[in-house]
Amino acid sequence: MTQPLNLSDPKHYEAVRRPAAEAAPLPNWCYTSAQWYALEVERLFMKVWNYIGHASQIPNPGDFLTREVTGAPIIIIRGDDGEIRAFHNSCRHRGSRIAWGEGNCKALTCPYHTWTYARDGALIATPLIEQDDHICYADLGLLPVRLECWEGFLFVNFDDAAAPLMQWLGDLPETCASYGPANMVCTRRKVYEGVKANWKLHFENFNDSLHIPFVHGGTLNRQNVSGRARRTHEEFSGQCVVHFTQHKGSRALLEGETGFPPIPSLEGRYREGTWYPCILPATMMAWTVDCLFLFELWPTGPESLDVAIASFFPEEHTRRDDFAELAKPYYRRLDVILPEDNDAVEAQQQGLHAPVAASSRYTHMETLCHAFDNWVLDRVLDA
Ligand code: FES
Ligand SMILES: [Fe+2]
Repeated sequence: MTQPLNLSDPKHYEAVRRPAAEAAPLPNWCYTSAQWYALEVERLFMKVWNYIGHASQIPNPGDFLTREVTGAPIIIIRGDDGEIRAFHNSCRHRGSRIAWGEGNCKALTCPYHTWTYARDGALIATPLIEQDDHICYADLGLLPVRLECWEGFLFVNFDDAAAPLMQWLGDLPETCASYGPANMVCTRRKVYEGVKANWKLHFENFNDSLHIPFVHGGTLNRQNVSGRARRTHEEFSGQCVVHFTQHKGSRALLEGETGFPPIPSLEGRYREGTWYPCILPATMMAWTVDCLFLFELWPTGPESLDVAIASFFPEEHTRRDDFAELAKPYYRRLDVILPEDNDAVEAQQQGLHAPVAASSRYTHMETLCHAFDNWVLDRVLDA
């Protein structure tokens, strides 16, 4: 399949733009090309609200975590005043990276010439160098990244002109209200590094109900899911691809496992099923009757990503003496299905290198993938 010279020209995507029933998936190059990926970084990731973590992961002053949003390194740190701030993870002296991983710190010290920053980002020490007109501490604090929070869920945006987070999320806060999102605590986050696939394949896979009996035939599909109904294209004002699956019990457990009681505040259809709001571009949530699990996609290039899977429970459950024991089957289920999905998208990535347009159509079970592909095109193509 020959890649055109101007990838952002809408004329190459007419087959994707058709109604879902007649549409083709994105062309292969959207999953393999460095040039296309560069367009996504510039026109999409650098313009939108990117989920980066949850306040319960950094509860104390000095707690920090580091992330890379399509290569852009950031630090998220809680200050002595309790505020959570985000900064570019790049020293104001000569640009070295300052922090790695997650943890707690008294201050952030650059490893190169040990310039040191307080927990609120202010420059406080430059060993061997005097503060003078050329080195003015007040001007040389860590550069902030715009950060906004919904009920503890933290998002950053590199575009100062972007509309506020709540506009991005639209109906999501109201729709999730009966789960009590403000009461959720992140209890485990597991990262699969270096998955050899384009990030969009994982987003599509999460929204593709067709693969479940095949990829997860020995695991997930044993769960008794009755009246399974995917209500695609529900009216939704936010930047999300959403679906709801009706079933009995918790979707976060394998068949035969037992866990926590349902969240008592749940209302209406949410008492029997799972609500899957996938926040564009790269955060997929699954709110089920007793907990939340959340997939984070961290693209590291056109053909690689890290996938993190985070588990959340209502705060009162996390205080139980038997919490660790009762949470085990929830983690076990994720540990089983994630490698299965990783294998599936890696095989798909390899196949997309065929020099022909083998990838030809979506079916009626994949309309959410089609909606996602078109959302990507809306942002990346020339107006
Ligand atoms: S680059 Fe950080 S102290 Fe020099
Ligand atoms: Fe899957």
